[in-house]
This record gives sequence, C-alpha cells and structure tokens, in this order.
Amino acid sequence: MSDMKKRAAEKAMDYVEDGMIVGVGTGSTVAYFIDALAAWKDRIAGTVSSSEQSTARLRSHGIEVIDLNAAGPLSLYVDGADECDPHKRLIKGGGAALTREKIIAEASERFVCIVDPSKRVDVLGGFPLPVEVIPMARSLVAREILRLTGGQPVWRDGVVTDNGNLILDVHNLSIVDPVGMERDLNQVPGVVSVGLFARRPADVVIVGGEPPLVL
Ligand code: A5P
Repeated sequence: MSDMKKRAAEKAMDYVEDGMIVGVGTGSTVAYFIDALAAWKDRIAGTVSSSEQSTARLRSHGIEVIDLNAAGPLSLYVDGADECDPHKRLIKGGGAALTREKIIAEASERFVCIVDPSKRVDVLGGFPLPVEVIPMARSLVAREILRLTGGQPVWRDGVVTDNGNLILDVHNLSIVDPVGMERDLNQVPGVVSVGLFARRPADVVIVGGEPPLVL
C-alpha cells in the first residue's frame, strides 16, 4: 500500500505552482508528498504545516514553514484521509492532527486529498470517527456523542494532541448525513473539532495506482 500512497503523493505535485505557499497535512501519505516537495523547495514561497510531525519533516528537508496568520489565504492544501466517500467527504484525524488540518483546509482555495485505494468507501464511518475534546469535557462529550449518534466513543488513551487536548474515537457509525453529524457534534461544548470533513470536503481526490486516478 505504501507504493500506492507514494504514487498519489507524487501526482499531487501537478498542483504545486511556482511562488505558492503550500498547506501541508499529516500522515504517511503526506510524508511522501513532503519528500517530493523537497525537490521544489527553492521554487515555492514556503509551507504551512498541520502538525509538529509534518513541521519536523519539512524542516529536515530545509523547507520553510510559515505561520498561517502570516501566510493569509492559501491556494493549495495537500493532505491524506482515513476514509473518502464518492462526494469527496472525508474522515480524518487518525494521526490526531484533525483540528489544524481543518483550519488549513478552510483557509485554502483548493484541497487536494491523496489516498491509497483502501480509503475509498460508499458510506463514511467504518473508520472510527476522531473527535478532539478539551480534557475536562471528555466524559460529557462522550455521553453526548452516544446520545446524538448512537456510536461508541473510545478515549484514545495516552494521546495528547498538538493543541494539548484529547481524542475520542467514535466506533460503530454509519454516517448517512455527514454534514448534519459534523454540525451537531461541533455544537457540543468541549468539542474542539470533529474529524468529518463534509461541510468543506476535498476538491480533488487522487487515488494512488498505476496510473493514479484523479477524482
Ligand atoms: C492525520 O490526523 C490524518 O487526518 C491523516 O490525514 C490520515 O490519518 C491519513 O493518514 P495516512 O496517510 O497515514 O494513511
């Protein structure tokens, strides 16, 4: 599968243009994108990173990382996903970076999502839905998730996000209305962000293969 991830990541370089500040996601597929971007580092104006992990990889290649507040609106964001449906709606957050990923996706004109074929599903929810929560609200949010969705929230023990928060992974969901679920969960006090990217889906999905499939 790593070969498929690499092919998707390298295809995403088609969307990188001279002088751009590129939004960069998190995960094993994005790691290949960062490695491909290294060859272009003198042609882009820099990157905005969605995690400490990606920042470290970018800097190890000598690629400049810029604060989003200084960068302003971005033309391009490239990131992976844990699941992708036919409408380019996503589950993300398997790497616990969902909040910064969502911020950068929102700030970007074009979101190019890079996946291997195993990530494509008809209905989201087979992959447990990550929800980032303020630590003191963990139990409250878990009860509300159960009440609102019927899914089983499981605390991702030992994981603290880059923002100092916790992750609940919601199991046993079949998400027929991703926009509605994203909206409802976002309104629970203590929820920082929900790993559903439905209100702002991807614009382009690249599925790794020979040749890669561009959706
Ligand atoms: C990080 O929090 C996630 O949203 C990743 O984008 C997602 O888990 C994809 O990861 P891989 O590229 O490692 O499969």
